[in-house]
Amino acid sequence: MAMDNSPSNDKSSAAGLLSRLAQAWQQRFSAAPASSNTSGGEDSSPAVDPRLAACAEKICSAQVAVSQIKAGDHVFVGTACATPRSLVAALEALSPAPQDVELLHFLTDRAIPLDPQGQALSRYRHRCFFIGQDMRAAVKQGLADYVPISIARVPQQIAIGRIPIDVALIQVSMPDEFGYVSLGVSVDITPAAVAKARVVIAEVNPHMPRTLGDSTLHVGEIDHLVPVDTPVIEYLHPAQQTEVVEKIARYISSIIDDGSTLQIGLGRFSNEALKYLSDRQDLGIHSDVITDAIIPLLERGILNGKRKTNQRGKIVTSFAMGSRRLYDLLDRNPLFSFQPIEAVCDAWTLGSQHKLVSVTQAFAVDLTGQVCVDQFQGDLYSGVAAQAEFLQGASRSQGGKAIICLASTEEDGHSSRIRPALLAGEGVAIPRSDVHYVITEYGIAYLFGKSIRERAVAMIQIAHPDARQTLLEQAQTMGYVPADQTLRNLQAYAVEEERHLQLKDHRPVLLRPAMPSDGDAIRDLFHQLPERDVYTRFFRRLRGLSSRDVQRLCNLNSETEVGLVACVGSRENPQIVAHAMYMVDPSTNLAETAFMVHPQWQGQGLGGLLQQRMSEHAKARGVRGFVAEVLSNNEHMIKLARGAADNVQIENMGSSVKITRLL
Ligand SMILES: CC(C)(COP(=O)(O)OP(=O)(O)OC[C@H]1O[C@@H](n2cnc3c(N)ncnc32)[C@H](O)[C@@H]1OP(=O)(O)O)[C@@H](O)C(=O)NCCC(=O)NCCS
Repeated sequence: MAMDNSPSNDKSSAAGLLSRLAQAWQQRFSAAPASSNTSGGEDSSPAVDPRLAACAEKICSAQVAVSQIKAGDHVFVGTACATPRSLVAALEALSPAPQDVELLHFLTDRAIPLDPQGQALSRYRHRCFFIGQDMRAAVKQGLADYVPISIARVPQQIAIGRIPIDVALIQVSMPDEFGYVSLGVSVDITPAAVAKARVVIAEVNPHMPRTLGDSTLHVGEIDHLVPVDTPVIEYLHPAQQTEVVEKIARYISSIIDDGSTLQIGLGRFSNEALKYLSDRQDLGIHSDVITDAIIPLLERGILNGKRKTNQRGKIVTSFAMGSRRLYDLLDRNPLFSFQPIEAVCDAWTLGSQHKLVSVTQAFAVDLTGQVCVDQFQGDLYSGVAAQAEFLQGASRSQGGKAIICLASTEEDGHSSRIRPALLAGEGVAIPRSDVHYVITEYGIAYLFGKSIRERAVAMIQIAHPDARQTLLEQAQTMGYVPADQTLRNLQAYAVEEERHLQLKDHRPVLLRPAMPSDGDAIRDLFHQLPERDVYTRFFRRLRGLSSRDVQRLCNLNSETEVGLVACVGSRENPQIVAHAMYMVDPSTNLAETAFMVHPQWQGQGLGGLLQQRMSEHAKARGVRGFVAEVLSNNEHMIKLARGAADNVQIENMGSSVKITRLL
């Protein structure tokens, strides 16, 4: 095609760039002979790819380039911060507009004109795999169709022609000396679209970072090169640090171990969680998308990817959305490997990655764990992206964690996002059988492999306190939990109440408030106690604990009845090795205490640690002291109850002693 030198509507800077680029191109490539050193002749200048010589002729204006689009074409539009906005604008301005053109895209930024009232004004139909901000109005108006599909499966659908692509509009970096451009900040589904398109039109932007990995494209595969000189679109989460966001982020970070590989996605909670990982070691990134949130961890040397199983040391991703600071970091940096989305999401790669942590933000979750992520109360929002792949990959990965997170209430602060059942107009994007961790600002529920009853109790526990009683009643009506299930503990415990401690023999334990969902694990502890310990703890011979007995140990009001447990093992399936509780007698303001420690964990200071923690807790609530009635021959408990304090009274009561210790 002949080069277009006619005056265009481009900005003058773009027009200037166009002619500069054309000149540079001709100097660099056209003068060199196409097969200079192939026959061992005397000319020693490097071989020049024959495809390069003709490239200067591909340089044209956006208007000329998009005039190649024909009626009925399916036009792919590049993704997110690499949305080729001048090409889209030129297409919208084409006169006459080609009929029945469909624009397809994953996630775009201002790819559709909006009027001042926010109504979409595109002259074409759109088909999107994700509903970003700029597409919401178009979807609502029926101008755009949303396709609920994992973005990782789109390339294959394009390849087999089920998703037709005739033209690809993309944005790329400047070419290198070999004639390769980089797809820059957005690789994702672009290679699949380019491979299938009849016509490939690329905005060539000197501001687009040259990302490395499987992210390059030879100019020979591009039909029209349209110079642009505009800053790459930047994306930052609006600064809006709320207590809820912070609490959820802290909970997420609390379960990320050293050596984990993280998928962070675009969600606010997961991005925020990275702020609380500064004390971790050897983290890695394997994520569909990266943002500015990785920069501080990178600067501290924490994101070194040392323990990654695949592509050790590399930050692997498919697209980036961030600030210029991030883009400068990406430019020609071999630390980052940008790959097509289907490669990043490959099931084997994800499943074999060490400790893969995936975080998905949800709109609503029901009591059984059904997750809604792309539709809320009838409105279609965002999309399924690659979450299913990452959740499944994280659940298969050794030591991996598949996390769903959400605020416990909607924006109004009242309506619970944890629902007895999802509402009409709330689609299930992640089935309950795939859900592992669910996190709200009230804690962490682990659902995988749990019964409906266990799930419902765990989900009610992390619901907003004002919603829990109603949820319990609804769960009972639906037959999810038995009628005798109570939820007296309407106050959730905060993550700050957890203590990670070491025993005398250096074994680690987690001390935390007991929760209604601890019932089964407490029952397991009970059955580990020898008969003698059962007797000294309960003052009677007991063969088992009824569900009422169990409820009395873990379903407490947290103010005048307080239970603590010591856990070991994974958070999702903890073994409770000790339980302690106190109950305040309002007439004396003294609290009666009781303990049980697994026989294999006795004598290591656990009883003492539990007592110390209960003392702190009780003191803060103005409790006067602790009282324990202990069998006279229970020397360990007597030692424990007396502690090292001076203000202890011991009353002999025959076969038992009553020990009162003022706080
Ligand atoms: C009583 C009980 C709670 C103590 O728990 P624990 O984790 O062993 O407590 P600690 O390790 O903090 O030890 C408490 C004291 O007993 C001593 N002790 C505990 N186990 C011991 C053992 N096997 N050998 C020698 N001393 C031992 C400790 O040295 C410590 O005394 P110190 O403070 O002078 O050092 C635990 O033995 C238990 O669960 N018993 C069965 C249930 C029961 O009796 N509950 C109490 C009535 S409610």
